[in-house]
Amino acid sequence: MQRQHRFTLTQLLSFILLPVVKLSILTVESQNLPPARYDGFVYENRQGDLNSILVEAFFDPVCPDSRDSWPPLKEALKHYGSRVWLVVHLLPLPYHDNAFVSCRALHIANTLNSSFTFPLLEEFFKHQEKFYNAKTSNLSKTSIVEEIVKFATVAVGNSYSSAFESGFNDRQTDLKTRVSFKYSTSRGVFGTPFFFVNGFVLPDAGSPLDYNGWRSIIDPLVGAKSSQSINVPHFI
Ligand SMILES: *[C@@H]1O[C@H](CO)[C@@H](O)[C@H](O)[C@H]1NC(C)=O
Ligand SMILES: *[C@@H]1O[C@H](CO)[C@@H](O)[C@H](O)[C@H]1NC(C)=O
Repeated sequence: MQRQHRFTLTQLLSFILLPVVKLSILTVESQNLPPARYDGFVYENRQGDLNSILVEAFFDPVCPDSRDSWPPLKEALKHYGSRVWLVVHLLPLPYHDNAFVSCRALHIANTLNSSFTFPLLEEFFKHQEKFYNAKTSNLSKTSIVEEIVKFATVAVGNSYSSAFESGFNDRQTDLKTRVSFKYSTSRGVFGTPFFFVNGFVLPDAGSPLDYNGWRSIIDPLVGAKSSQSINVPHFI
């Protein structure tokens, strides 16, 4: 009785473990980390260096708080010009049904032409209600992808319709979106919007920050930099 029981347990274990082993092989296959290129979209191709202030924003294109945080951040970037640069990372939140497919659309746009990325992100922010859970609960995944292809080609130009469609059949764009997800979670980001300035997370993560909030964070940093460069001649 005892012996037979053990035998059954071994069998049971092999049934349990076999799929796990198979799954881990699959994971290794799809694991392309670290990625060949750093995650994120640089705003206005305004790539800074170690002397400029780096803002990293973690957004979900179908998240209302991400949407609300964009206009004041954009205004702040305009104010600071080349002293501040922005990299946007995507975090498709699992409780937003269409977040991953929307993020993938942004990766497709970026692959087609990097200057399409932010206009499309702004289109998502403007019309994100279309892709909310309740609005799309009766739609199949296929028809949502069709909707997003139509939506995106309006933003980037109708001539890109078929390129966009094939983008959704290209495994690379799926993998890039996964890398975005993994990168965001590896930074400890668990909601959107999250902001980091020069690598450090800002308090009140997950809530929009208004223009004055940005000024109060960045003004002292810009001031610290200019007083530093004024001091340089004293040392020379
Ligand atoms: C990308 O788009 C911009 C703006 O529409 C355009 O000026 C540029 O020529 C495009 N680049 C390519 C490689 O198509
Ligand atoms: C989804 O389908 C149900 C049943 O046909 C209908 O009652 C509901 O209004 C539909 N929802 C939407 C958002 O279209």
